[in-house]
Amino acid sequence: MSLFKVYPLNPIAITKAAGSRVWDDKGQEYLDMYGGHAVISIGHTQPHWVKRIEDQLHAIAFYSNSVIMPIQEQLATALNEISGKDDFQLFLCNSGAEANENAMKLASFHTGRKKIIAFKKAFHGRTSLAVAATDNPSIIAPINETDNILFLPLNDITALETCFADNGNEIAGVIIEGIQGVGGIHEASTRFLQAIRKFCNNYGAVYIADSVQCGYGRTGQFFAHDIAGVDADIYSMAKGMGNGFPVGGILIAPSIQAKFGMLGTTFGGNPLACAAALAVIEVMQKDNLIAAASEKGAYLIEALKKTPGVKTVRGRGLMIGFEMEEHLKDTKQVLLNDFKIFTGEAKPNVIRLLPSLAVSMAEIDLFLVGLNKAVQQLSKTA
Ligand SMILES: Cc1ncc(COP(=O)(O)O)c(C=O)c1O
Repeated sequence: MSLFKVYPLNPIAITKAAGSRVWDDKGQEYLDMYGGHAVISIGHTQPHWVKRIEDQLHAIAFYSNSVIMPIQEQLATALNEISGKDDFQLFLCNSGAEANENAMKLASFHTGRKKIIAFKKAFHGRTSLAVAATDNPSIIAPINETDNILFLPLNDITALETCFADNGNEIAGVIIEGIQGVGGIHEASTRFLQAIRKFCNNYGAVYIADSVQCGYGRTGQFFAHDIAGVDADIYSMAKGMGNGFPVGGILIAPSIQAKFGMLGTTFGGNPLACAAALAVIEVMQKDNLIAAASEKGAYLIEALKKTPGVKTVRGRGLMIGFEMEEHLKDTKQVLLNDFKIFTGEAKPNVIRLLPSLAVSMAEIDLFLVGLNKAVQQLSKTA
């Protein structure tokens, strides 16, 4: 049987990983500045994470959500502590799309309304509501098309105000990435996030902070949205949460009340996923990785700004996007082929850096040396 070919693949088979390095089946080493798409938060195969999952595997891997699972409660407490969202509640699921799907569904249950405001260039996942709130018609199947999502320009407070004035009684919630990832590293401004909070309060709507990519400490704060100094009502999380073990979740404000059967999942919150997620938080706290993301990110952003051929640099902490001059548009491929460095991309022309929060300064310098050499090489052939 062949694989269903939905991914354009690099012809590289990765079979081993440690920290910010990965190796292919021929033993070639690569530097991973992509973090397996923002997923690797504390480093590939981090020893404490491996041990915690291993120990959990020997105790119990799975039981259904029909019994008390103390490890879920431990995770909820650890998340309250690391996020600073003290009295928030936790619902666990398995992926980013599922987290956003549940967040929007919950906003609708809570308000009894149907419409969600989302933003241009947003990406929220591929399940039915999440993809409908994603600004990319090419991945929205006819069955997922709906009039319930209202797309507005990012950071346009007037458009937001008008939309609430016109539809306020129908709006269940607003969903927004603190920094758009797939859309090309575009930040929601502090004023805009504060305006979302204000209009959601005024009109009784739910503010959903999609933190799937920009959350979990990557930007130097636990949630990128925290920069605005206001709380969202729901935070969706996945990617960095399990460091590669599939786990997602939503943090839910105390004002939103649970009802039996309102949300549910078979695998969400299974003990293995909780063990992986706890290990991530423990390592982040022990090694101070959130502060480290901020410092290393600032260093990297400054260095990128001084790199010849780099046109623009955007982002915060270790969530960075930069655009190269037109004649250097093959930089990403040259970095991979000739300098064995993985980076991410955002169409049409942004290179995304989403390394592990534990990436070392030496590895960041190694990346910068590779980038400078790639620029020199491409400039010769241009
Ligand atoms: C901001 C954001 N939300 C949601 C998702 C969907 O997450 P998943 O692929 O785990 O469903 C992604 C994935 O890239 C994302 O970047």
